[in-house]
Amino acid sequence: MDVKKLIAAALFARRASYSPYSGYQVGAALLTQKGKIYTGCNIENAAFTPTICAERTALFKAVSEGERKFAAIAVAGSPKGEQITQYSWPCGVCRQVLREFCDPELFTVIVAKSEEEYEIRKLAELLPEGFGPENLA
Ligand code: THU
Repeated sequence: MDVKKLIAAALFARRASYSPYSGYQVGAALLTQKGKIYTGCNIENAAFTPTICAERTALFKAVSEGERKFAAIAVAGSPKGEQITQYSWPCGVCRQVLREFCDPELFTVIVAKSEEEYEIRKLAELLPEGFGPENLA
């Protein structure tokens, strides 16, 4: 997996963030098992609750185009500005939504400040003992 390429895609996607209320800009880049990248940004709303995170934007774009098998996601989030000053871990809702389509033991989550500075976890570490599709099979 080309981690730097995935981070670069997340950083680029962050530029489209629509976040006038929080001023917190997030970009995500989701890698399919076949190597295709789908990107997303957070999109806020004046009514607040319809706001969607960057991770789910990327995932829903991919699923709506027929993709169901994913390998990794890179996330870059930080208050408005070019410089990424913190690691932006996926929120609980996004972890659960990723869980729906990913094997938590295999799926990789990358949070990045830059192409050189990042941390990597498996989804299972971020969402242990999760509830997923197998529970309802
Ligand atoms: N946000 C994301 O895009 N991803 C996350 O995992 C956490 C939060 C966005 C939602 C909202 O637009 C802003 O960050 C502040 O919560």
